[in-house]
Amino acid sequence: MFLSAAVRSAVSQTARHVRSLHQSAARAGAGGIFVHRDTPDNNPDIPFEFTEENKKRIEAIISMYPHGHKQAATIPVLDLAQRQHGWLPISVMNKVAEVLEIPPMRVYEVATFYTMFLRQPVGKYFIQICTTTPCMLCNSDSILEALQNKLGIKVGETTPDKMFTLIEVECLGACVNAPMIQINDNYYEDLTPKDIEDIIDELKAGRVPPPGPRNGRFSCEPAGGLTSLTEPPTGPGFGVRPDL
Ligand code: FES
Repeated sequence: MFLSAAVRSAVSQTARHVRSLHQSAARAGAGGIFVHRDTPDNNPDIPFEFTEENKKRIEAIISMYPHGHKQAATIPVLDLAQRQHGWLPISVMNKVAEVLEIPPMRVYEVATFYTMFLRQPVGKYFIQICTTTPCMLCNSDSILEALQNKLGIKVGETTPDKMFTLIEVECLGACVNAPMIQINDNYYEDLTPKDIEDIIDELKAGRVPPPGPRNGRFSCEPAGGLTSLTEPPTGPGFGVRPDL
């Protein structure tokens, strides 16, 4: 097959930038293997019960959905269960199925799909690095390398002191602030390898660095500064009726 010089060049450029894909390893690191195997600390006979406080929360969550649609509460109730227990062994997932009155498989399907749900214990700080296209184009590879070097672990591993777990995930919805990572509930955005050094040092010192962009911009405003809507909003009514 004939390829023009331009196409051959593009193909060869692409080949040089192909990165290895290790999604299975990343999921195994936090979510566990997709097939459950009973172990002494993860089997259906280990009892789990929601706290009284969380039972009330579950009632409130379920009440938001139409009658007969408790299944719609699967994600928020799984999240609540994980916040209470730290991760989601099978007995916890079974309890979620019980309170929602759905087959356990419906819960397993959700828990094995989303990287936010942990089917193995993780470190105190659970680090998810996004390497999907926008982050990759903004050099998430350098952020991943900085994390691995700083922590001394690979994707899917936990540090020996159980402080940090690192996994690689798909888009976390902060593409405009790429490259970014999530640590527990916080997003750290517009990162450089130096930021990773600083963030990990802060966490090791027992301090949680403020989340958000690290390059000084506010939220997801344009990186090059505002180009439109440059004045403070006036709010409804202002400027229309001078007497308001
Ligand atoms: S691609 Fe990284 S947050 Fe969307």
